[in-house]
Amino acid sequence: MTYGEKLLHYKKIIDAGLDEYTRFPPKRQDRLFGAMRYSLMAGGKRIRPILTLEFARLCGGAENTAVPAACAIEMMHTFSLIHDDLPCMDNDDMRRGRKSCHRQFDESTALLAGDALEMYPFQILTDSISHGVSAENTLKMVRLLAEYAGHMGMIGGQQIDIQFEGVCSEEKELTEMYRLKTSRLLQAAACMGCLSAGAGEDKIGIAFEYGDKLGLAFQITDDILDVCGDSQELGKPVGSDMENNKKTFVSLLGIKAAKERAKQLTQQALDLAEGFTDCGFLKELTLELLNRNK
Ligand code: IPE
Ligand code: IPE
Ligand code: MG
Ligand code: MG
Ligand code: MG
Repeated sequence: MTYGEKLLHYKKIIDAGLDEYTRFPPKRQDRLFGAMRYSLMAGGKRIRPILTLEFARLCGGAENTAVPAACAIEMMHTFSLIHDDLPCMDNDDMRRGRKSCHRQFDESTALLAGDALEMYPFQILTDSISHGVSAENTLKMVRLLAEYAGHMGMIGGQQIDIQFEGVCSEEKELTEMYRLKTSRLLQAAACMGCLSAGAGEDKIGIAFEYGDKLGLAFQITDDILDVCGDSQELGKPVGSDMENNKKTFVSLLGIKAAKERAKQLTQQALDLAEGFTDCGFLKELTLELLNRNK
């Protein structure tokens, strides 16, 4: 399979899994179900679940075993986006090429859709057992996702992001914020792939380091696109960071130096990918994410 074919193959598996997990029978809370699906099925690059499936493969796991973990991480990520767009956070009106959840529905529904997509991943992760993952590793994934998404992870990073608005900060502090708000979910994606496949600590350690570097590069690139990107292409507004007085690598270092940092971090991620045999797809994906325009 070529890189493009494999990407498409993974996306199909992920979209089918997400579709199946969110086909709820008609109920009084239909509006909530609709909002969950609205944001989840809008597309998006599906980077995190692709990483989960690819790391599982790199660790010798059968494709099907990591599907619950892949769906779980994409739901967690989508929750983070719904809340990130709320008026009390970044106040953005567009996401994944359509109106953001609170604009399409209303703020209360968007808040609850986010909440629901934060809970459901843990329910889904328990399906890993029937997909062939050991009970022990399934528990490890539950703990890992809770930790990396929660107050010591992504949510903690979002708090720092809000506190940094308009405040002067140094590269070291900014890196720590990016590590939490962005790297953690990518690390969870990669590490859960390894755990699904029953990999040992050595592989999980590389996945953790890889996710760290990739996440930092990914967020810096996101910040650059917020300045230099095209809103149509991105499917979300540009200029949001400036409007919100956000501290970013771009506001701190300027575009040129930020691009250089993203490049260095990508190289570090590429070197870490070499820790797996048959790492061609992972390396191509890593590079694509640096050179993306959406
Ligand atoms: C956006 O993530 C939020 C960041 C962490 C920068 P993505 O760029 O992966 O968003 P989707 O999933 O493709 O919409
Ligand atoms: C990352 O930061 C967001 C999350 C961790 C949810 P941004 O606020 O820059 O993400 P975008 O640009 O809105 O997608
Ligand atoms: Mg934000
Ligand atoms: Mg935002
Ligand atoms: Mg951004």
